[in-house]
Amino acid sequence: MTTGDPQSKTRDGISLFSPVDFAGMHKAGALAAQILDEICDLVEPGQTTGVLNEAIEAKVNAAGATSATIGYRGYQHASCISVNHVVCHGIPSDKKLKDGDILNIDVTVIVDGWYGDTSRMYVAGQLSRKAERLIQVTHDSLFKGIEAVKPGNTFGDIGYAIQSYVEAQRMSVVRDFCGHGLGRVFHSPPNVLHFGRPGTGAVLEEGMFFTIEPMVNLGRPETKVLADDWTAVTRDKSLSAQFEHSVGVTATGVDIFTLSPADRFHPTF
Ligand code: MF3
Ligand code: CO
Ligand code: CO
Repeated sequence: MTTGDPQSKTRDGISLFSPVDFAGMHKAGALAAQILDEICDLVEPGQTTGVLNEAIEAKVNAAGATSATIGYRGYQHASCISVNHVVCHGIPSDKKLKDGDILNIDVTVIVDGWYGDTSRMYVAGQLSRKAERLIQVTHDSLFKGIEAVKPGNTFGDIGYAIQSYVEAQRMSVVRDFCGHGLGRVFHSPPNVLHFGRPGTGAVLEEGMFFTIEPMVNLGRPETKVLADDWTAVTRDKSLSAQFEHSVGVTATGVDIFTLSPADRFHPTF
């Protein structure tokens, strides 16, 4: 067996990787996170999401890496950029950002065959109080989920940690999109739901690699996909936010592959 082949799979079809494989995920994750760090300074009113995407694509190429999203199921861009009531899979365009817009930028790179997938929130100009609260709660909900990652816990424990926190803040968790296993493929089992009941779902084991990427709405959780077949928006047009990390399960807890090298994961208000 060569390095990078999952050592085995659980009966739920979840790949189990060996300790040496964590290094490959760290390299890919760090590049994705570094690119998101570097993009911070370009986000301002008047900027277009198309220009942000071009800068991201140039950085992926300059690093000698590959964009996982270009060509994925017909998607043609190096990032998804989801503004205001766009929940996820926003397509970069020549539309200009306005003062007070909030946006999620999601980048996935392939380095030496390993996938690094992360997204975070950015603000153009002045942030409203309600958008600030939404971003804070969404960020913190991701870390509630991450805190539930350790061998013996279940995927339902992760979903419950996120959902119970978000709903206590009177916001809602999107049900229509979820996190996913990853490694040497982009999307693999399991579906990582951001809602659920404690003790349900597959049991976490050392060597599992997956994303946690909660989408949180200020209004109702329902979404719809626009005619472009990608852009997902809130049905009630309420603001939506998302943060995503790629993680691995260790013997004792969790290893986050997509930590921000410059400590810019959380937007500074
Ligand atoms: N990066 C997204 C995720 O978190 C997937 C984007 S697929 C694309 O899983 F085709 F829309 F780019
Ligand atoms: Co993902
Ligand atoms: Co992503």
